[in-house]
Amino acid sequence: MPLDIYDSIREKRFAALQAEFLPQLPLASGTPLTLELGCGHGHYLNAYAAAHPGEFCVGLDLIADRIARATRKAARARLTNLAFVQAEAALFLQALAAPHPALSLASPRLRRIFLLFSDPWPKRRHWKHRVMQTALLDTLAELTEAGAALHFRTDHPEYFIYAREVIAAHASWRVATPEEAPWPFEHVSVFEERALAGAPQSFTALRSETAHGARIP
Ligand SMILES: C[S@@+](CC[C@H](N)C(=O)[O-])C[C@H]1O[C@@H](n2cnc3c(N)ncnc32)[C@H](O)[C@@H]1O
Repeated sequence: MPLDIYDSIREKRFAALQAEFLPQLPLASGTPLTLELGCGHGHYLNAYAAAHPGEFCVGLDLIADRIARATRKAARARLTNLAFVQAEAALFLQALAAPHPALSLASPRLRRIFLLFSDPWPKRRHWKHRVMQTALLDTLAELTEAGAALHFRTDHPEYFIYAREVIAAHASWRVATPEEAPWPFEHVSVFEERALAGAPQSFTALRSETAHGARIP
């Protein structure tokens, strides 16, 4: 059956990520990888990478202008432990999790994932567009080991509850207490500044020891 245009575009982007972007990352070096899904202009991740030179950070976003701005900022600061790429979050993670036999890359291990002020898509019929999804947690579980952290922050109270419920229903992730997993780093991005009036709420989910896969409801 012929692929429709959408599938064909996704296939091309997937192939480009595997062939062009992923080989630039120090995947085989054992350097801890930190990811921000939907990094916007890269304010947070630039500051985080500068403060954590022992980690390699990757920021991704759908919008090309934002990635260009984030990349310029990293270049100005001469940060060598940071890369940005225009990509859709789920597709990027699938490309990262897929085997790379031609490149003989070690299986990448993410230590930390940030999902900050992710678009809340308030209407129920649009929830499928939210980045926080069971399928995304499945792929993240493949890419992490026990103890890896997923940090979530939003100013949208309903998205906060929803995100915690998606985590609670997943066999490979659990919501940690703030004492167990304190917020690792504070830096106010433009989006956070706009959100401050909305009283942002945060939680950290930890990758548990259990097997991959969502719990059966
Ligand atoms: C409100 S902004 C927050 C940016 C940044 N995290 C911050 O706190 O400043 C949300 C960003 O997520 C991006 N985004 C939304 N859905 C995405 C997806 N499926 N994959 C990658 N980026 C996405 C948007 O383009 C937007 O730049």
